[in-house]
Amino acid sequence: MTQLVKQFDVVVIGGGPGGYIAAIRAAQLGFSTACIDSWSNDKGGPAPGGTCTNVGCIPSKALLQSSEHYEHAGHAFADHGINVSGLELDVAKMLGRKNTIVKQNNDGILYLFKKNKVSFFHGHGSFVQAAEGGFQIKVAGKTEEIIAGKHVVIATGSNARALPGAAFDEELILSNDGALKIAAVPKKLGVIGAGVIGLEMGSVWRRCGSEVTVLEALPTFLGAVDEQIAKEAGKLFGKQGLNIHLGVKIGEISKGENEVTVNYVDDKGTEHQAVFDKLIISIGRTPNTNGLNGDAIGLQLDERGFVAVDGDCKTNVANVWAVGDVVRGPMLAHKAEEEGVAVAERIAGQHGHVNFNTIPWVIYTSPEIAWVGRTEQQLKADGVAYKAGTFPFMANGRARALGDTSGMVKFLADATTDEILGVHIVGPMASELISEAVVAMEFKASAEDIARICHAHPSLSEATKEAALAVDKRSLNF
Ligand code: FAD
Ligand code: NAI
Repeated sequence: MTQLVKQFDVVVIGGGPGGYIAAIRAAQLGFSTACIDSWSNDKGGPAPGGTCTNVGCIPSKALLQSSEHYEHAGHAFADHGINVSGLELDVAKMLGRKNTIVKQNNDGILYLFKKNKVSFFHGHGSFVQAAEGGFQIKVAGKTEEIIAGKHVVIATGSNARALPGAAFDEELILSNDGALKIAAVPKKLGVIGAGVIGLEMGSVWRRCGSEVTVLEALPTFLGAVDEQIAKEAGKLFGKQGLNIHLGVKIGEISKGENEVTVNYVDDKGTEHQAVFDKLIISIGRTPNTNGLNGDAIGLQLDERGFVAVDGDCKTNVANVWAVGDVVRGPMLAHKAEEEGVAVAERIAGQHGHVNFNTIPWVIYTSPEIAWVGRTEQQLKADGVAYKAGTFPFMANGRARALGDTSGMVKFLADATTDEILGVHIVGPMASELISEAVVAMEFKASAEDIARICHAHPSLSEATKEAALAVDKRSLNF
């Protein structure tokens, strides 16, 4: 028989960026805190950090970096007078490096738990009942135990969505998990879904030498991105050799011994049959409430299977909260983290806050795409009068020195007040440049504020200043 082993103020279920950060913040605020996470490494040991650390943000960026170096060595170094001969890609080493980085992050989180006195439980958590003194949760790991928390934070994340009739086997039909573990560069790689994962993972394997075909259902490319930026990005990806087909309808997918055949109809109604060595399916993710047994406490899900929460991440059950991918809103690690911090602070009676209007998005392709705030098409739809200013990296000295002059920075500001409403970047280091725009928007800055701030020369950030100047039609270098 299991017995109650320990009572906590706060129990967090899930140790991804939403959960582990919520646990650390709760512990900082003086609560006795536990975090339960089920992810195991290949030796069966704990691997906290969730999708982000194990099969998401971190490993994908490691492979993006390695593959970019390979591409530069093969195609860009010569422009700098550096001649490379005998260039070889050691995929096993590239994957090994990625695995080491993942492990460093797993270990880092375990260290942070110790440092902050968060009790970590490795196993699967499920609700047993709401009892006096708190919610009882069964942890099924190497052993089984029950812990209880006065407050519970659900941070169980999301899983890759499969296409009906094409279950992931992670050998031929790959989710993000398998896409990060391909042992040898596939000659022909198919990708279904030209979203964030499709473009990032498609870029990795294209740079490594795959012929990559991306099949996207929607007729527009990157519909959530500012149209001008998406158009520019689409052009650049096409030039790099990423074959993106829009408006396709996927038909039957069948597996052979070493290949996958995808039947599809293109936007003109013509039927095609494409044979790939590997197929990545990246068509979005579904919230993960598997085995959580929320019914035991009467937890409500919304119609799409997300844990239903209000603007403060409160569920329908008092003192049960939910954050990150398992609730509404963008599926981003930094959004999950911000919600985790805000919930811990709300439990402490503070006024934790997440500003959904200033959550940045980044697609880590080359060039990178990053944005914050509203797009030009959204402003038009909302009937907002705006002014736009753009500045191309072609006219930026640092971009020329880097040898990466693709793309632009675009500012959108209110026509009357000049307040910044959106900033959109396609170009080198867009992921870093966007921070300035996020800070500016948090402080409700005007385009003129950015235009009047001294930016280091030569730096890519001068393109940001110049785009802000362009809002008022007074760029200095273009
Ligand atoms: P998760 O990270 O999914 O963590 C949930 C954890 O809970 C997991 O460890 C899971 O095992 C555990 N768990 C689930 N159920 C239970 C249970 N019942 N008991 C115990 N443990 C349980 N976002 C970005 O912002 N930037 C990026 O660059 C980026 N790149 C990505 C690349 C890829 C390939 C993918 C797939 C995603 C990427 N994301 C990125 C999205 C990001 O990974 C997620 O938004 C983020 O991980 C969500 O955090 P979370 O804490 O809500 O959930
Ligand atoms: P996504 O939502 O970004 O893209 C899915 C794409 O698949 C869409 O363009 C959609 O129209 C298309 N699609 C859907 N059904 C289809 C079908 N049947 N046939 C063809 N195309 C179809 O989802 P993705 O790429 O799976 O990523 C999931 C989430 O993970 C992202 O939305 C993002 O939140 C997160 N992520 C974030 C990253 C980052 O911040 N850099 C990197 C990777 C993932």
